[in-house]
Amino acid sequence: MFSIDLSGKTVAITGASQGIGKAIAEVFAGSKASVILLSRNKTKLEENATRLKEIGINARYFVLDVSDFNQVQSVFKEIGHIDILVNNAGIHFTSSVLDMELNSWKELLDINLNGAMYCSKAVIESMTKNSFGRIINISSTSGKHGEAFSSAYNTSKFGLIGFTQCLALELARHNITVNAICPGWVETKMALDILNDDKYASLHQIPKEELEETSLQAVPIGRFVHPKEVGYLALYLASEYASAITGQSINVCGGLCMH
Ligand SMILES: NC(=O)c1ccc[n+]([C@@H]2O[C@H](COP(=O)([O-])OP(=O)(O)OC[C@H]3O[C@@H](n4cnc5c(N)ncnc54)[C@H](O)[C@@H]3O)[C@@H](O)[C@H]2O)c1
Repeated sequence: MFSIDLSGKTVAITGASQGIGKAIAEVFAGSKASVILLSRNKTKLEENATRLKEIGINARYFVLDVSDFNQVQSVFKEIGHIDILVNNAGIHFTSSVLDMELNSWKELLDINLNGAMYCSKAVIESMTKNSFGRIINISSTSGKHGEAFSSAYNTSKFGLIGFTQCLALELARHNITVNAICPGWVETKMALDILNDDKYASLHQIPKEELEETSLQAVPIGRFVHPKEVGYLALYLASEYASAITGQSINVCGGLCMH
């Protein structure tokens, strides 16, 4: 029988207040893992942790800005041992390179790319001592091809795939796998904000009211990916069944990207 039981394992998920991170937490809760929710939004974290506790899950939350290295170090020290880390926290903005605000570029890379490195660095020693670990980086199909007016975001997601491959090679002998998941359009606040953004519509020269329909027409399955569909792959990658999968960047995109 194929079932995934992660009783006794602890998973930490960054960006777990909403969207994909929240859905990943719910999927892992179904496998009986202990769940650590991390994000900047205390109110939402508390709500999500309470909901998981109500169904008998050992859930804790910590307020964390992943782009702050010192905060990452102290929060992960307080948490203790983590078996599975999901680097999911991320932001997006639209801009041409010509009009790029340097602070926005740096902030995005600090969260989407540096944050994943800081959190990974914080768990490696303890995973290595335990001879087991899973690091799952939420990249994007935007990490596999260029897109106009999205250079900061796409650069961060390409970087995350490169980081995934390097770290996978460093940790393979310790029974620690490192993989990236590359979602396409997932129905979350991030995607809906992009598809409702005047700047995105005007730079791409698509009427705003047609943005969602045009974007989903390019998806072979013709719909958004559900956040939990990203969670199911994360759960599989965290399981014993995926012990031989490392350094991979796997799309969950309804056929939008095929490499
Ligand atoms: N929605 C999509 O279509 C899509 C597609 C591909 C990849 N992704 C990626 O999936 C991940 C989750 O995105 P989402 O769609 O759920 O977005 P979302 O905006 O709904 O959620 C983002 C989460 O990241 C958290 N976050 C942002 N900055 C943070 C920081 N500095 N420290 C800690 N937490 C922080 C937010 O609090 C929130 O919980 C992101 O990395 C995103 O790039 C999303």
